[in-house]
Amino acid sequence: MKPKVLITRKIAEPIIEKIQEYADVDVWDQEDVQIPRDILENKISEIDGLFCLITESIDASLIDKAPNLKVISNMAVGYNNIDVDTATKKGIMVTNTPEVLTETTADLTFALLMATARRLVEASDFLRDGKWETWSPNLLTGQDIYGATIGIIGMGRIGEAVARRTKGFNMNLLYHNRSRKPDVEQELGTTYVSMETLLSESDFVVVITPYTAETKNLITAEQLKLMKKNAILINTARGGIVNEADLYEALVNGVIWGAGLDVFEKEPVPADHPLLTLPNVVTLPHIGSASIATRMKMAELAAENLILALKGEKPKHLVNKIDFS
Ligand code: GLV
Repeated sequence: MKPKVLITRKIAEPIIEKIQEYADVDVWDQEDVQIPRDILENKISEIDGLFCLITESIDASLIDKAPNLKVISNMAVGYNNIDVDTATKKGIMVTNTPEVLTETTADLTFALLMATARRLVEASDFLRDGKWETWSPNLLTGQDIYGATIGIIGMGRIGEAVARRTKGFNMNLLYHNRSRKPDVEQELGTTYVSMETLLSESDFVVVITPYTAETKNLITAEQLKLMKKNAILINTARGGIVNEADLYEALVNGVIWGAGLDVFEKEPVPADHPLLTLPNVVTLPHIGSASIATRMKMAELAAENLILALKGEKPKHLVNKIDFS
């Protein structure tokens, strides 16, 4: 008998067909609609493999309802939506999709940095609203990127890819990470500094670190106060790393100059969220890895991880820190 798999969102048909070679597949196929929790709870009791997205909270209470589950394959590099400890205790493999999205997410991070510094969204709205009357010396002036100091918090794969992009802009590069990266320091001429130094010396602070108990609320009023008045904060990691109420206050009171946010504490961010009212914030709906090619690669890799696990082999990207063999 084939194992049973649930895919929690519509993905490309050839990828579903590939999974179908090994498993009986059930797809929640309402495009852009999240699978309701009660349906997920119902279906999970039957399945051996789960292909899910960051929108699904795979917590202990859900895992408890899944006696046959062998693998949770997340179509994302981040996996803070999954209770990995509980999964591990139950012998369930958890997999993710790193590497394939690194450059695409770094592209978006840089695009957001540039859009925020040069007020691109505000400028485009200004023009479309018919407000452009004349070229003017002080019209929509922003911050320079070329030659500025950038501080990257989190020198993982994506942090490194962002760091590489700064070279074309002759930026002075600082970083902070759990551990030092001497190879990166040598290759990119970057300097490891304390959080305090990074915050106080950077014109751009880029948050690109995993969301864990240690990084929750990493940036609060205390850290924002250390930043320069002309500084811009960019977050393309997870919303909960930056305290949103504190960020709002800092932006309103001129403690920092601007922010570019691809991620929010609660997603989708409510339309009446205070941060969405500020002109000095560029906001995006969590599209870091959203290129056509990369989303396809992520789905392919998530399928590959799922199939290998169901076959009893080691998936390419196992998150649990134990050996299942
Ligand atoms: C998206 O945020 C991901 O973690 O891949």
